[in-house]
Amino acid sequence: VFTPDLLPFSDLTGKTVVVADILRATTTITFAVANGATAITPVLTPDDAFRLAADQPNTLIGGERGGMKVDGFDLGNSPREYTETVVSGWQIVLTTTNGTRTLQACRAAERVLVGSFLNLRAIVNRLAQAEGELVFACSGREGGFCTEDTVFAGACVAALAETQLTDAAEAAKILYQEHCEDLLGMLKNCYHGRSLASIGLGEDLEFCAQMDLVDVVPHLVDGRIIV
Ligand code: MLT
Repeated sequence: VFTPDLLPFSDLTGKTVVVADILRATTTITFAVANGATAITPVLTPDDAFRLAADQPNTLIGGERGGMKVDGFDLGNSPREYTETVVSGWQIVLTTTNGTRTLQACRAAERVLVGSFLNLRAIVNRLAQAEGELVFACSGREGGFCTEDTVFAGACVAALAETQLTDAAEAAKILYQEHCEDLLGMLKNCYHGRSLASIGLGEDLEFCAQMDLVDVVPHLVDGRIIV
């Protein structure tokens, strides 16, 4: 059963969860680990990030508030910043408005995978081998629905050809089918995409719309995301 879900989650014990924050946290995480970041630790607040990084060598602090890099951080939340030159061999402490919050909220699940359009095929291949109930944790916006994360969940559902779908999964699939020919157009039109463009981050939309750019499945183990 595939259930694109939103916060607050029901009991995730024993389930496989795919966390999506297409704009932009899970796209950033996917690209960072594909480029050799050794681990990414999602935390709730900038203070938590500074505290944790202070105790650990070889650590970069990344993330955003209001879409922009936080004062004193090494990196913002634009996936384009997380190149091999910058992140290879480094661990990263990351805090974002919605995405890292969702990752924290899913820690009780049996398995937590990190998905984006960049690694869609790798995620689908992994899910095809998974057993039990799957939940798509769509980060959304401050606890509410957002189009882009649900379209991603729908893309996974469509690729898995699962027949026993919940209504939510069926709706996500329909939404994906509506937008699959023009993912960039969907990102440009959705609320968060317009908001990023309005603060000069429109190039991130093009980046986040790329399909199957990398072949990694980041997953959360003991509070850290690794490949
Ligand atoms: C979030 O976690 O809310 C997003 O990744 C925000 C952003 O676009 O930076």
